[in-house]
Amino acid sequence: MSEREQPKLPLLTERLELRDFGEADVEWVQAWACDPAVVRFMPWGPNTPEQTREFLQRKFAERTGVPRRTWDLAVVNHGTGRLIGSAGLRLDETLQQAYIGYCFHRDAWGHGFATEAARVLLRFGFEQLGLHRIHATVDSRNGASIRVLDKIGMRQEGRLREHLMQRGEWRDSFLYAILRREWDATAGAARPNPDTE
Ligand SMILES: CC(C)(COP(=O)(O)OP(=O)(O)OC[C@H]1O[C@@H](n2cnc3c(N)ncnc32)[C@H](O)[C@@H]1OP(=O)(O)O)[C@@H](O)C(=O)NCCC(=O)NCCS
Repeated sequence: MSEREQPKLPLLTERLELRDFGEADVEWVQAWACDPAVVRFMPWGPNTPEQTREFLQRKFAERTGVPRRTWDLAVVNHGTGRLIGSAGLRLDETLQQAYIGYCFHRDAWGHGFATEAARVLLRFGFEQLGLHRIHATVDSRNGASIRVLDKIGMRQEGRLREHLMQRGEWRDSFLYAILRREWDATAGAARPNPDTE
């Protein structure tokens, strides 16, 4: 993709819209970013309102980069219109690799939303951004997120010992990744063929 061509948003799934954050989202984001249960396995938070405003300012700045490297998106349930979480890719353009991450309001857990959002991000990363590999790191105790990574076809590649400092303690992470050819062979193979539809 040339530097001038930027992929288009929003990304749509059956139940979700993934779009850029706006100024009006601050209270919704703060509703999950201040929740100790939500940030339990994250290296940040619980956020003050000021920290959430700074987070959004960073998101606004990051999206002006050309080529854009950070695609941290707001996840909206389009049935209810409610902003329920964030999910994104952070790209290393040179290496054609990206890091995937997600975080949802506690009320939205357990409905398959993270899996649905992560799947569309993999498609976006491989098909629109032309990535070769997408990876994730997850706290070794974060069973729900590990399950999401398994469900979207990522493979565990190892344990990163004492990888992150989290509220005064070193935590182990699992490294997960999926290659473009692995995605093509699974989810990619299931997509409609425009030549035959
Ligand atoms: C991790 C998180 C994104 C999952 O979101 P979600 O929308 O509930 O995820 P899904 O519903 O798509 O899938 C969750 C899966 O984990 C399973 N699960 C839930 N809690 C679990 C646990 N403690 N141990 C193992 N599996 C668990 C669910 O049963 C489901 O699997 P299933 O579809 O086979 O039943 C959400 O819990 C969250 O936002 N947590 C806080 C932020 C966070 O940890 N982000 C990830 C950082 S790597």
